[in-house]
Amino acid sequence: MIPRETINQIIETARIEDVVGEFVTLRKRGSNLWGVCPFHKEKTPSFSVNPARNIFKCFGCGKAGDAVRFIMEHEHYSYPEALRFLAKKYGIKIEEREQSPEELAAQNERERMFNINSFAQEYFSNIMMTSDEGQSVGLAYFHERGFRDAIINRFQLGYCPNSGSAFTEYAMQHGYDKDLLIKVGLTGSYENRTYDRYQGRVIFPIHNLTGKVIGFGGRILTKEKTKAKYVNSPESEIYNKSQTLYGIFFARNEISRLDNCILVEGYADVLSMHQAGIENVVASSGTSLTTEQIRMISRYTKNITMLYDGDAAGIHAALRGTNMILEEGMNVRIVVLPPEDDPDSFVQNNPIEVVTKYLADNAKDFIGFKTNLLLKDAQNDPIKRASVIKDIVETIAVIPDPIYRATYIKECSRTLEMPEQTLTNEVNKILRAKLRKQLGLDPKQDSQLTYQEYQTYQPQQQVEPEPSTPIGFFQEQELVKLLLSHGSENIELEEKDEDGKVINTYITTIASAIVDDLKNDGLLFRDETHKKIFDAFDRGLDTGILPTAHDFTSSEDQDVAVLAADLLSTQYKLDDWQRHRIVVKTEDDVLKKTVLSSILRFKDMVIEDRRTAVVKELQSCTDPDDQLILLQKKKKLDDIRLKINRDLGIVITK
Ligand code: CTP
Ligand code: MN
Repeated sequence: MIPRETINQIIETARIEDVVGEFVTLRKRGSNLWGVCPFHKEKTPSFSVNPARNIFKCFGCGKAGDAVRFIMEHEHYSYPEALRFLAKKYGIKIEEREQSPEELAAQNERERMFNINSFAQEYFSNIMMTSDEGQSVGLAYFHERGFRDAIINRFQLGYCPNSGSAFTEYAMQHGYDKDLLIKVGLTGSYENRTYDRYQGRVIFPIHNLTGKVIGFGGRILTKEKTKAKYVNSPESEIYNKSQTLYGIFFARNEISRLDNCILVEGYADVLSMHQAGIENVVASSGTSLTTEQIRMISRYTKNITMLYDGDAAGIHAALRGTNMILEEGMNVRIVVLPPEDDPDSFVQNNPIEVVTKYLADNAKDFIGFKTNLLLKDAQNDPIKRASVIKDIVETIAVIPDPIYRATYIKECSRTLEMPEQTLTNEVNKILRAKLRKQLGLDPKQDSQLTYQEYQTYQPQQQVEPEPSTPIGFFQEQELVKLLLSHGSENIELEEKDEDGKVINTYITTIASAIVDDLKNDGLLFRDETHKKIFDAFDRGLDTGILPTAHDFTSSEDQDVAVLAADLLSTQYKLDDWQRHRIVVKTEDDVLKKTVLSSILRFKDMVIEDRRTAVVKELQSCTDPDDQLILLQKKKKLDDIRLKINRDLGIVITK
């Protein structure tokens, strides 16, 4: 444990330009330094370092943060690992907090388990490369399957001799503890006798994110039906199958550089793909994907391409687990291989150009893929069709981002030949039920507006809220919703002079567009919960690490958590734009207009509120001097309102 004071000292000492400068060539332009982003592919520099705020930010891929964050992203370190890296760089000594005897024992045991695995891995590799049996059986098998020595060495493949307990004895001679050998699953025991669990098998070491061997898979070489095809490490303090992805250590840099992770099923698939030069590939190792595995991938990219066998089982496997991926806010695409292939055989039997072209041509967005597949099954059976629609609607409802949801609804309305409104209606029903459940209400009792009612919802109801709703509540809420669902996305803004001439365009996050703008005008939210969320983004802009929607929905503060869940589960009110007959060109357009008009509407409300107060004061004011001052105040507020409404008009009708 690193003491808090040391953490602060490290953060205060680390200069962002120094830290980044070690990895990226930076050039000064204006008050910032610029370079080519190390996190995504680009030719012209959009990666900026702001020495004053002590943060970095890439306007291409959106990655941003302070020095610690940079090291975490760049080196794929955990938070404490990044702190240790920086402490070393700046010669800051870390006096670790003293650990309890239990912690110490547990840590020592973990350490010893890692050591045993590393020892075993070296043994299995050595045996395979140098012993007669290793070469003629293990190495020959891998060569036969088309794996060359480079990939064999990189993935540290090996072979365990087929002789009872050769490895276990060797390990014990070298001082390794029998109980621990059993615990990590290298050794089995049977009536006081020990044996090598992997005997006669080829070995696939499984590495964690930092490259340590946490477990093994051992494949049988014969076709004996009585023996398991794979023997795997048991769950232990260092190996948790559901939190592991085979190949992640070798794939992580390419995954983040290409901003995409290709997911396959087996060890052989990963090896063949890497050997062919496609290195952003990991395997779920036969089981369906877990949330932990998805989160691990989401540290590097939001895009997953699932690559599955072309047979029926493969396609089925592809459908499993995908709702979970969508739920994490990831984009899922699917490539189905020709029926006779799995990824391993496909890359081994085709030239790389054919493979990359196939991947590019056949990657289908998941919802479209699922819709077409299910529709094909349903043919013209109306009952089956109805259940397909239900299935698709449920899938769309798990997507956290309202704008993505709207896009999918549009697309599915075309493929399913269903009115968009009906689909939206169904999706909203599910979302409301989910929300009611989250809030501990009966999910079946749905008393809220239907989509049609929503469409005809009159704006007066918003301007004249019920007495219990504080003035400006809805305008605040609209901004909070934007912060929550799109705060870290970029928009391009224009700076204008007095005559409305554009003098500068710049890209910034939606969070900074909203927060900085309101703060510049000295405006605050009144609702306590809104304010907490606003403040969290304000702090995020200072540190360069914006909070995520998840931070709020999982907040300890119940008010914040419930509000965030609520706002993130409701549909955007894009009908405003329809009322003004604006054709929205792209999602960007919608978003930019929504942001700008929401800010303006909020300001308009604040000004109106102040004006009402002034008018009230005027009515009861008798002193002529005071009256004059109040009248001037009123005039000023009227002017501002006029300007706001003019701007609002420009935003809406442009
Ligand atoms: N798997 C496992 N235990 C099994 C079967 C499979 O752990 N008894 C996991 C392995 O990670 C394997 C993956 O599921 O890589 C896919 O299984 P399969 O397609 O049978 O294995 P492949 O690795 O493709 O084996 P091969 O091509 O060598 O037959
Ligand atoms: Mn296979």
